[in-house]
Formats: sequence, structure tokens, C-alpha cells
Amino acid sequence: MKSTEIRREFFEFFKEKGHQIVPSAPIVVKNDPTLMFTNAGMNQFKDYFLGNKDAQNPRVADTQKCLRVSGKHNDLEEVGIDTYHHTMFEMLGNWSFGDYFKKEAIEWAWELLTTRYKLPAERLYATIFEGDPKENLTQDTDALELWKNILPEDRILLGNKKDNFWEMGDIGPCGPCSELHIDLRSEAEIAKVPGRDLVNQDHPQVIEIWNLVFMQFNRLANGTLEPLPSTHVDTGMGFERLAMAIQGKTSNYDTDVFQPIIQEISAISGFAYGKDEKTDIAIRVIADHIRAITFTIADGQLPSNNKAGYVIRRILRRAVRYGYNFLNIKEPFLYKLVSILSEQMGETFPEVPSQLDFIARVVKEEEASFLRTLDNGLRRMDQIVADSKEGDSMDGKIVFELYDTYGFPLDLTELIARENKLNVDTKGFEKELAAQKDRSRQAAAVDKGDWTQVRDTEDVVFTGYTSYEEKSQIIKYRQVKEKKKEFFQIVLNKTPFYAESGGQVGDTGYLISGDSKVRVFDTKKENDLIIHYTDKLPANPEGTVTARVDADRRQLTKCNHSATHLLHAALREVLGDHVQQKGSLVNDKILRFDFSHFSKMTEEEIKEVEQIVNRKIRENIQADIQDGVPIEEAKAKGAMALFGEKYGDSVRVVTFDPQYSVELCGGTHVDSTGKIGMLKIVSESSVASGVRRIEAITSEKAEEYVNDQLNLMAELKELLRNPKDMKQALLDLLEEKNKLSKEIEALHKEQAAGAKDQLKAKVAAIGDVNILIAEVALPDANALKQLAFEFRNEFNRLFMVLAADINGKPQIAVMISDELVAEKSLHAGNIVKDLAKNIQGGGGGQPFFATAGGKNLAGIPAAVEQAQVLAKEKL
Ligand code: SER
Repeated sequence: MKSTEIRREFFEFFKEKGHQIVPSAPIVVKNDPTLMFTNAGMNQFKDYFLGNKDAQNPRVADTQKCLRVSGKHNDLEEVGIDTYHHTMFEMLGNWSFGDYFKKEAIEWAWELLTTRYKLPAERLYATIFEGDPKENLTQDTDALELWKNILPEDRILLGNKKDNFWEMGDIGPCGPCSELHIDLRSEAEIAKVPGRDLVNQDHPQVIEIWNLVFMQFNRLANGTLEPLPSTHVDTGMGFERLAMAIQGKTSNYDTDVFQPIIQEISAISGFAYGKDEKTDIAIRVIADHIRAITFTIADGQLPSNNKAGYVIRRILRRAVRYGYNFLNIKEPFLYKLVSILSEQMGETFPEVPSQLDFIARVVKEEEASFLRTLDNGLRRMDQIVADSKEGDSMDGKIVFELYDTYGFPLDLTELIARENKLNVDTKGFEKELAAQKDRSRQAAAVDKGDWTQVRDTEDVVFTGYTSYEEKSQIIKYRQVKEKKKEFFQIVLNKTPFYAESGGQVGDTGYLISGDSKVRVFDTKKENDLIIHYTDKLPANPEGTVTARVDADRRQLTKCNHSATHLLHAALREVLGDHVQQKGSLVNDKILRFDFSHFSKMTEEEIKEVEQIVNRKIRENIQADIQDGVPIEEAKAKGAMALFGEKYGDSVRVVTFDPQYSVELCGGTHVDSTGKIGMLKIVSESSVASGVRRIEAITSEKAEEYVNDQLNLMAELKELLRNPKDMKQALLDLLEEKNKLSKEIEALHKEQAAGAKDQLKAKVAAIGDVNILIAEVALPDANALKQLAFEFRNEFNRLFMVLAADINGKPQIAVMISDELVAEKSLHAGNIVKDLAKNIQGGGGGQPFFATAGGKNLAGIPAAVEQAQVLAKEKL
């Protein structure tokens, strides 16, 4: 079976068992502070398990794009070294939300593997949870009995909490699990060591393929387990491993999931796969990482310097480094792999082919910039090598600098050091690294207390689309302590507060009860909960509070949000359909819109976009907002931003003229565009390769902006004495200024020439030395320097000290002819330093010429006097 057939068969099988097949959730997680990336198929269903939400269908199956590179499940270091761990992988899963439980989950898994995929039954092993007295958990005897009906007892193994009790993260739904493992070794090897001895022993060919989790508990922040309201099934089967087993391979990378990419990497680098373990590891790392990079960018996460964006940047850099170190690839190349991946996966994941150019461009730019950093690092390394001698040890601090600033991993530094016969202080490096980790841990330290439940419900109603005020009750609250601040998080049963999402800021306002007013300084979402951030708790958390949103702030935010939609549509009209939203920020002051486009917008394009938006504002188009629209219907309406939605999301469609702007959006909007007043674009810039950013203002902010500009004009006019033609007046002024500048320049020259004549008269020949020590007044520092050099050319054996008043600032110049420098061992730099003390200044220079500036003009005579004494002494 080809991998595409394996996927199809999985869907067919579970359809027959009454499951609905749903699309994968985005790989990048929104609105969940505990998770950056989807790390298991169950993430998108978490709320069904916790009982926060009811599932539309109790039986669901899918293939989920997962990424395990951070947090509790992190496989990054294994990737490429072994043949069966990945950063991005697909997880095939079937789910029961309070419907079937262990029996069906186990029997169907067995049926699919042995009768549909025809995997050899005698090579399969099942594990079950042995229990854990510390957690008060008993052995999963139900699963054991069910497996006994299927397998001989010697192929059922007991597993501990680490292997057979599955948890999503430090908190959240969890439960005992039963895993299926397969032995893919040769008969001869099996005869030597039985498979059961190798299960869960990190053997590359005796591996877990399917995990059946029986969700029964919720892990609380205080570490205890609480039973869930009902029991559920969550299964996850590694698609790439399954393909390996079915296709009779011994490495995931030998399956048709990876081979096309691997062949391309071989073609680009000239290193065949399967010849040398070192280059093979590099090829595997790259083949793996390009998938993670492509899929996250396709889901809207660009590489950047923080959070999820930084994780992606690091993965991309890791791939570049492996290419650079082991395959000798010094040019961007990863971007060439994107199209192969797109061809292979496009049927199941249309988000990749539809953004192919964009993804490739982002990857290429990111590679190029990292290669530049690596080159700079190599230059730094050259310098270090030049400054050391054979056998020296490179300081841990420097090794860390290479790591931190130039992205050099320790092994690369060690390699280059070895080539140059240097040692590396690895201990010192580890120390620096640990110190950095410590610093960031301290900076990120957050202490979230457990929720105090006031009411026994998790049903939260948002009323803010139509109302700004609500009589509400607190469901739960908790105190959060961060390094610098402490605050409360409060969940209300009913709230008009909009929680930050889709680029729109969270509302601010008050929770009012009687005379007490508690400030809500922000509102955010955690999954489906709306969390109000407050600085105190209301006096009586059990009572009723009036939740009141800052209406003016919200009104301005609404204007900016609706204007963003109008802007998006206008950009597509003017620039083309490749324009897609890549990010946005909407608050009461500004709207910021990031979109895919490959060149700087021209003045004309910006003007045209602005004109279209303002025309649409004047047309006063009524907003048509529909909630709960099925995705298919929204697509038919031409709604933009269809990727990144997940199964079961209620899709809200916001339309301003069906011919003009139709978007999926949960934000708040004006009821008709006229309310926006006007839009003014204030900047257009670049954020990343292929991504442009527009900042604009609307309504009263736009009015303020126009008024500010007009006021400025009025002030300028007054300053210019109210001319009839202001532009001409300014041009005249500039012309006059130019003329005057030239005149001044000429005068300065004359003045300098006059000063020179006077100074010449002061040159005293003492013995065979020409001495000139004098005060002068000069227009600028350059004139002083010029004067000194002119004297150098005209007089032999010259010792000259000029103490100048340059527009009220003292400066000293010392010029000494070369032969005097040599004969008398003089150094102008040292002399000027001494003299400068008189003018409270400092300076320096070469032995023959040096200057110093200072603060104390009154010190000039003293400087001159000292120079005279000095001349007598030294000459
Ligand atoms: N949640 C389990 C896992 O990720 C099964 O889907 O392994």
C-alpha cells in the first residue's frame, strides 16, 4: 500500500464504524497558554474530554499534523539520529466522546491492523498499565481481560506510569493507555531474542505504532487527579511508522513518505543516501525538518524571535547547519524541497499547495539570512584562531558567544577548533549555557494558583456583540504571580468583554458591585473560557457584579477592525489575489495589517487602496454578520481566511457587500461602514520576506491626524510671516539659505587666511627650530586642522601648538615635524593630552599631529603658557 492508500483505508474503516472524518486542526495552537503546537490528535478535543463543550458527533476520526519540539513531548534531539522519531508527524486517530470505551477501541485497533493492513498478528504486542500506588491507581485489568481474548498472554506486557499513563502536559485530561508494538526484525534475530524483551527498549525495529488512551482523569495544577465527568477514547497511531511496517521497511525514511524528499536532497548535495551514517543523519534531519517548517508556515506561523516563531526559526537553522556541516551546502536549498512536499501531501493538506510560493520564499529568505550569520561566525572564529597559538584552549565565554550570537553549536566549534589544533573549554561553555537558561527561567517564572470554583458550571456566554454591560456572576477565579506583578483571573458566566483574538485586543472596563469598582485591564481567551484580568477581586465573589466594558475604547476598536476588512479587500483589488492576511493588530488607536506581497507598494498603489477604502466607507455599507455558518457554505460565499479553522469551530462570517468583503471573523464590527469616518494609511513597510505591513488610523484618530497636519501647516505659515504662496516662500527661503551658506564659507576662508598671515608673523626661530605657540579664533575644527597642515608644509623643523576658540569651544592642536619627533623623542598625542587638562578635555593622535577638545574656554591662556614652558624644556 502506498502511504496515501494507508491513510484512505484508515478513514474508510472508521467511517464503517460510524465515525465522522474531520480535518486536521492547525499545527499552530491559538488561545492556549499551555501549548504552542499541536502535539497530539486529542488537543483539539480537549474541551470535550473536560466536559467544557459538547461534541457534535460522539465518534470522530482524522489524521492530525503534530509537532513535538517543546514542552512535555519533545523528540527534537532524537530526530535524524534514529529512524523513527520526527518533529512533524501525522497522527491517525479515532475518538469516542463519552460513547464507546475500551472494548471497541481494542477490538477495532486489532481488526484494522491485522485484517485491513494485514500486519502479521504474531509480531504484534500489547501493553497495559500496571497501576501506580503513589497515585492510587490500580492495574488496568479491563484492558488486560480484553487483550486476553485476542492475544496469548506472553504477548501482553505490563507497563509503568511513564509508558502507559498518557498525559497531554503538566495539567489536563489523562488516563491509562494500552499500546500496540510491532517487531519488524528478521526471523533470525527474533529466534535469538524474543520481541517481548525489546518492547519499550528503544529498539529501532521493535516500536510502538498505536496508542489507545482511555481518558478518565483531569490532572490539576496542584498535581492531583480528578475523575472526568465521563470516559472517552483517544487513540493515536504514528502514520509514518505504520507506513514503515506495512511497506516492509526498517526505517520511516525508507517509506514513500520521505523518499522523494531524500532523493532531492541527495541530488542537491551530491551525497547518496545509505552510504555513510554521518551524511545519512544530516539527510534525515533535513528531510524531517522541512516538513515541520513547511506545515507551520502554511498554518500562519512565520519564523521570528519569540515563542512559536522562534521554535520554527531554530528548527530551520538546525536543518541549514546539518546541510552546511555535513553535506557541504553553503547556499539556500531547503526552499527547493517545499514543492516536492506540496505535491506529495497536497491532497490531504491543501494549505500547502495553495501557498507554495509564499512558503518557499519565506524559507529561502530565512536560510539566506542565517547563512550570512554563519559566515560572520566563521570570520569571528578565524579571528579567534589568529589570536591563539597551538594548544590554547578556547574560553567558554567565547564558545558561548559563537553559540548564542552566531548559531554555532558546540560540535561545530569543536570541529573547527580541532582543525586548528585548539582545545575547547566545554565545561565553561556548559556553565554559560546553564546561566542563560537560568536567566530565562527566572524571567518566565509564573505561579498560577488553582482555580477557586464559585459556581459548578463552565458555561460561559459572550454577549459583547450587542451589549456593553451585563449583570454577571463569577464562575471561578485564581491568583497569578509573575516576577513583577500579581493579578487575578476571573471567569464570568455571562460577559460583554471581548477576549483578545483574531488580532483584536481584549476589552478593558470594570466589574462593579455596590460601591466597589474593580478594574479589568485585559481580557484573554483560554480555550473557550473568557478570562478577565483584574488587579483585585470583587468584594463579594459570590454575589452579582455589573460587568461594564470601556465603550469608547471598544467603539474605536470596532472602527479599526471593520476598516481592516475593507483594507484587505482593497489590497486584493489593487495588488492581486495573492494577498493573504499574515497577521493583524486592531486596537483603539491603530490598525496594523500584515499580508503576503513581494514588493514595496508604490505611492500610487497606497493612494489607490486608501481611496477605495474611503469610497466604501462613504457608501455606508451595512454589515451582514452571520454566526454558526458551516465551513462549506462560508467557502461558497468566497470567505477569506479558511485555513487555520478547526473542526467544530462555529464559523462567523462578516460581510460588507457580498461582492466586496466576506471574511471569517469572530471580532466586533461597526453596523455600517460610514461609522468609520475615514481611513488614513500612515505607513507601509516590510516585516519579513514576502510580507508587507500597513499601519492605518480611522475615525477620530484620522481626524486628529489631519487636524495635526493642518495645524502644523498653519504654524509654519505664521513662522514664514503668512506669505500668499507658502511653497514659493519656502523655496525662496531655501535659496537664500544656500546663498548665505556660500557667502559664509567664503568669509571663513578669508578669515582663516587672515589668521594664517597673523600667525606666520608669530613664528619664532629659536636655534634651528621654528616655534609657533598661539591662540586663534576659528570657525570650525576643520579649519584648525587645515591650518596646522599648511604650516607643516611651509615650515621645516616646526613645533606648533595652537589653542583655538571654535565658536566658544576650546580646542588644541599640536603639530611637530617628523625630524623633531625622531630627534627629540616627542609625541604630539602625549603633549596634547597634557595640555588639554587646562581646558578640561582630552584627546590624542599620532606622534606628529594630535588634537584635543575641551569644556573650559578660559583655560586657553594657561594651555599656551604650559606649551611655552614645555617647548623650552624639550627643544
Ligand atoms: N494522545 C495519545 C498520544 O498522543 C493518543 O492519541 O499518543
